[in-house]
Amino acid sequence: MCGIVGYVGKKNAVPLLIAGLKRLEYRGYDSAGIAVVVENKISVRKTVGRLTNLEARLAQQPLAGSVAVGHTRWATHGEPSEINAHPHCDCAGRIAVVHNGIIENYHELRAALEAKGHKFLSQTDTEVIPHLIEAALRDGAKNLPDAIRAALNQARGAYALGIVSADAPDTLFAVRQGSPLIIGIGEDGDRFIASDVPAVLNRVREAIYLDDGILAELRDGSVRLTNLAGAEVPAKVQPVTLSAEAADQAGFETYMLKEIHEQPRVLRRLLEVNPLFGGGANFGLKSDYFRKLQRVMIIGCGTAYHAGMYGRLLLEQFTGLAVETDLASEFRYRDPHIDPGTLIIPVSQSGETADTLASIRLAKSWGCKVLAICNVPGSSLTRESDAVLFTEAGPEIGVASTKAYTAQQMAFALLAIWIGSARGMIDATACRSLLADLAGVPDAIHYLLDRKDSIRAIAQKHHEGPSALYLGRKFNYPTALEGALKNKEISYQHAEGYAAGEMKHGPIALINEYLPVVCICTKTSDEVYEKMISNMREVEARRGRIIALATDGDSQIARFAHDIIYVPYVRDEFSPIVNVVALQLFAYYAAQARGTDIDKPRNLAKSVTVE
Ligand code: M6R
Repeated sequence: MCGIVGYVGKKNAVPLLIAGLKRLEYRGYDSAGIAVVVENKISVRKTVGRLTNLEARLAQQPLAGSVAVGHTRWATHGEPSEINAHPHCDCAGRIAVVHNGIIENYHELRAALEAKGHKFLSQTDTEVIPHLIEAALRDGAKNLPDAIRAALNQARGAYALGIVSADAPDTLFAVRQGSPLIIGIGEDGDRFIASDVPAVLNRVREAIYLDDGILAELRDGSVRLTNLAGAEVPAKVQPVTLSAEAADQAGFETYMLKEIHEQPRVLRRLLEVNPLFGGGANFGLKSDYFRKLQRVMIIGCGTAYHAGMYGRLLLEQFTGLAVETDLASEFRYRDPHIDPGTLIIPVSQSGETADTLASIRLAKSWGCKVLAICNVPGSSLTRESDAVLFTEAGPEIGVASTKAYTAQQMAFALLAIWIGSARGMIDATACRSLLADLAGVPDAIHYLLDRKDSIRAIAQKHHEGPSALYLGRKFNYPTALEGALKNKEISYQHAEGYAAGEMKHGPIALINEYLPVVCICTKTSDEVYEKMISNMREVEARRGRIIALATDGDSQIARFAHDIIYVPYVRDEFSPIVNVVALQLFAYYAAQARGTDIDKPRNLAKSVTVE
């Protein structure tokens, strides 16, 4: 969940690292630090808090050098403090390490190292790594790569590491095991490491997606890869197709607002390039496989799980398949009796979420096929799956997911229509009609974005209370959960998403004249709309403050609702893709009114690469 950047080349690494860390601050932001090789010594600067503090420190105590590693931290072991900030060093201060992930056996490793006389300064798990390397060198390792391999053979857990040493002043070392890390190839011999491509987007046009257990030695103009046995392995250099602008703020006050506004474009592009209906990309599983398929299991975390809940409803409706969903963090520890014929669909923006990855590894060990819905090419999830449907949303920097969610919804809609057609559940006419309706979704979101001022005005009226309730049914039950999650993530207002039919089974007790109740009551072709109206009447009878999401032209709702957010009409099945955008904006403006840090909400990190 932390951010790593490293550089080796001819330039001064320090400004390059700071620029890269700025682009990674969304991965973690409670402290930051850099280590630079200066005249065959390691110099370290660390500060607690945001990166600006590190910049201020560097202005007072400047550093320069052409081999360096940097880190922005999201604390797991040890409180956010200067001591616990990375990089961490060995006793002699000649090896500096930055780390993303968790060293699970660090307690026993630390005890053994302390018994040998190593002195530890921090409470972190990371600090064992430089000491293990130092110990391996003292024990006779013939060079630094061998010492690093010896250290890694003892460490258990997930890690991405950047390492510099005063004894190898021209080299930057990198290795990963279960945590993301890429090598960026720049101009003029520049070589970078980064935990995420956006960190170095403006500097590299080619990258090597490092595999687990591969040690990289980067020097000015070269990269050498070896496995943990020391044998050389070939490097697979791939083009970086993302543009640097994709990761910029483009004049918006926050990344989140920019990403909310990107949604019409992202969804139009996904419709164009998806491999299912004539797009160019390679999909991986053949339609024959889907004809014989019986059961699907969708897994994900947080927002991705909500997309999976929506995907289940679409797959059930269009394909006739039995579909279940589960939180990856639950799935991996229960006994779900999955047979090898079950298709597993993991959903993930980052493709690096620890629980999601653990779940698919488990499912693969049972013989299941895995079809990932993912946003990040080259991520662990995409590399470990049998097939991938990319969401094509581009880098998502705001910690609260927005465009990745609607792209996941759209991907599920395409997949469900395509599988339904392959299985003969949808005929050609129905398929054309569904695709035409889906193609109208980006325009509907565009019209909705034009009304953001009215959504802001409503959010400003209701942001003050301690809590809010979100109600929805069927396709819009996941929308209620996602709307509530957005609200609590960025505005810190407690918010509860509920299936409206469950209200009488408990949450109705919460309702009084102070509780904002967001009711998703857009027009449907079945009885769900009438049922939502009944639920709203129940809230009204208890004097709850109703904020309704209603379809353009619906005058009935005005009889019960205090405030109405009108949304353009789209057919029932696709209404959640539009409705959620209204709730993203509602949460956004509530957060703005409450004065929170919207792009970097407290305690959260963009990518949860540890359990
Ligand atoms: O990268 P992933 O999609 O696997 O991440 C899953 C969740 O951690 C993520 O959706 C999280 O809930 C976001 N903060 C939601 O805004």
